[in-house]
Amino acid sequence: MSLTLIRPDDWHLHLRDGAALAAVLPDTARRFGRAIVMPNLKPPVRTVEEAAAYRERILAALPAGMSFEPLMTLYLTDVTPPEEIAKVKASGFVKALKLYPAGATTNSDAGVTDINKVLPTLAEMARQGIPLLVHGEVTDPSVDVFDREAVFIERVMKPLLGKLPDLKVVFEHITTKQAANFVWSAGANVAATITAHHLLLNRNALFQGALPQHHYCLPVLKRELHREALMDVAISGNPRFFLGTDSAPHARGIKQTLCGCAGIYTAHAGIELYAEAFESVNALDRLEGFASRFGPLFYGLPANADTITLVKEPVAVPAEIPYLADDVLVPMRAGETVAWRLLD
Ligand code: DOR
Ligand code: ZN
Repeated sequence: MSLTLIRPDDWHLHLRDGAALAAVLPDTARRFGRAIVMPNLKPPVRTVEEAAAYRERILAALPAGMSFEPLMTLYLTDVTPPEEIAKVKASGFVKALKLYPAGATTNSDAGVTDINKVLPTLAEMARQGIPLLVHGEVTDPSVDVFDREAVFIERVMKPLLGKLPDLKVVFEHITTKQAANFVWSAGANVAATITAHHLLLNRNALFQGALPQHHYCLPVLKRELHREALMDVAISGNPRFFLGTDSAPHARGIKQTLCGCAGIYTAHAGIELYAEAFESVNALDRLEGFASRFGPLFYGLPANADTITLVKEPVAVPAEIPYLADDVLVPMRAGETVAWRLLD
């Protein structure tokens, strides 16, 4: 069995920088035409100038003969001035700003401490049609970690869209039935990305296997009922739900010990894992919309002009992938197989 799709794009990706960037970029560029590149570097990508420099480093790291278009984002801080938004619009290559609630996830310390502090900048984004990409979790330590996304909808998302009803928002890597329902019922300006790991795994995976910490990501995996709700909207054909892998590499050493960082590396099977998920519910015919058409539609871009082909054939996933000079990366399904193979 084979499956040919318009070449997909990844609407949520972590590429890191330096040696890490060079190690992971080919996995994405082989499969995806474009990707929305997350700005949570150290230090974060806060200005159009910084995004231009990062974009150049990405293009320089691309192996000869591969084509790939990085779509850049800025990291919203408490002090991002409204004036930066005109520069974003003029740049053409910065497509969105990313909201990290301060302390919510990896490299989010410079994030927004109070959404009200950035309202003038968000209002300018709404005026200029620049999307806000949201890590939708509250950081209130009294809120249960499994409930932080659902609480964010009530405390932040609804009030924000009440104040700025035209703001384009992508609720990133949704993990709950509440988020799926919220986006489903929202207007045409509100969309969501869904990762392959949140479609394939529920929270049992956090406690199973030899390396369960490698299934730790944020927002954390949820109960089966939430996974099923994500699957329902992913295969629904509703164009406001589209692919975003949130592939997030971390060196094995620090992930297993010092920081226990959140993030799952999936770029090595970035489209294949979604094919598995869609096939599991007999919805392979819905994959092209989700992976290749709906993201460009929301961002106002054309779909890619070429195609990729997957064949149903098990592929072994290595136990580790070269990453930094002194450490490796443990990919999703390490030492196991994925069910689809990408043809070159
Ligand atoms: O699992 C995650 N990893 N979630 C995030 O929000 C950040 C990301 C990362 O940068 O590692
Ligand atoms: Zn992410």
